[in-house]
Amino acid sequence: MSTLVTGIGELVTNDPALGSGPLGLVHDAALVVEDGLVAWVGSAAAAPDADRRTDVDGRAVLPGFVDSHAHLVFAGDRAAEFEARMTGTPYDGGGIATTVAATRAATDDELRAHLARLVAEMRAQGTTTVEVKSGYGLTVDDEARALRLAREVTPETTFLGAHVVPTEYAGRADAYVELVTGPMLAAGAPSARWIDVFCEPASPHAFDGDAARVVLEAGRAAGLGLRVHANQLSAGPGVRLAVELGAASADHCTHLADADVEALAGSGTVATLLPGVEFSTRSPYPDARRLLDAGATVALASDCNPGSCFTSSLPFCIALAVREMGMTPAEAVWAATAGGAAALRRTDVGRLALGSRADLAVLDAPSYRHLAYRPGVPLAGVLDV
Ligand code: NIG
Ligand code: FE
Repeated sequence: MSTLVTGIGELVTNDPALGSGPLGLVHDAALVVEDGLVAWVGSAAAAPDADRRTDVDGRAVLPGFVDSHAHLVFAGDRAAEFEARMTGTPYDGGGIATTVAATRAATDDELRAHLARLVAEMRAQGTTTVEVKSGYGLTVDDEARALRLAREVTPETTFLGAHVVPTEYAGRADAYVELVTGPMLAAGAPSARWIDVFCEPASPHAFDGDAARVVLEAGRAAGLGLRVHANQLSAGPGVRLAVELGAASADHCTHLADADVEALAGSGTVATLLPGVEFSTRSPYPDARRLLDAGATVALASDCNPGSCFTSSLPFCIALAVREMGMTPAEAVWAATAGGAAALRRTDVGRLALGSRADLAVLDAPSYRHLAYRPGVPLAGVLDV
């Protein structure tokens, strides 16, 4: 069964061979979807026939957003912590323990229902690929459970046993790292594609560069790809460690030394920026312009989690990136689609070229620019074909 999508006022393909500029823009476009893949893209005037036809009435169509960083397996919320932050209490990761306690106490079905609600919330805002981390279980069984549940909704699952040192291991970080790299990794790896670590010497709860290296090397030996929570609170060792170990992504990148920017620019490690975090923690935004001008690949993701940033909206992150981080609307849209795909080392999503997955976001607007131009307006959705 093939479907011809017509009436596309502006199509973002992210394939410069198909249209103009880095977004590969085509105006008055059409595309054909067959068996869930893009089978034809081009000008509406040249469109072939198909079994069915759907008209989007001049709207903009773009690749579904690729949210490459989210923590969606948890119970409870931390609205009171957010409220305190807004009047000056800084974020240091200490509140994660609250979510760990609530998550351990929840049943599988409670966690599954909450996870499904968040994934649906994302989809309603145009996100078609999402990465989901564990990290609120922090025991062998609770981390394995989180990854099994995550695997029910996405292949992009990340083992984050090294999120923080749980309270029962306070003062014994080395022993906890042994647990994470031993039995916890063994139990979680079958359901995980990636391993991640919160590398942040400035937090009393997270891991220093040496511990992060041990965690990442163990994950790599178990066959997992690498990602790092890096340089969120200080210009620590996380970014350079991520680049040295060939991680797919260094996430946050809020505080960067020149050497961090140079390292990212000369690497295959994507700098994933999470501006919802800076919004929700009242922190300075990362300097996307500096990274882009140096030649780094930049992705935008939500970091949806109950602590540092409880938004599921990539349109909101795009608007922040344009308003606060020196990105053009085109750069921000690329970063939330093709950039996210690069951060997950995926070539089948994040663009609408021949053979790509036909994951289509549609805007109730004529141009991708409206994502930043009309902040807070629910323009984006997924086009089901
Ligand atoms: O990416 N910084 C570490 N982890 C998450 C926050 C988790 C939480 O506060 O619950 C982050 O910001
Ligand atoms: Fe995170």
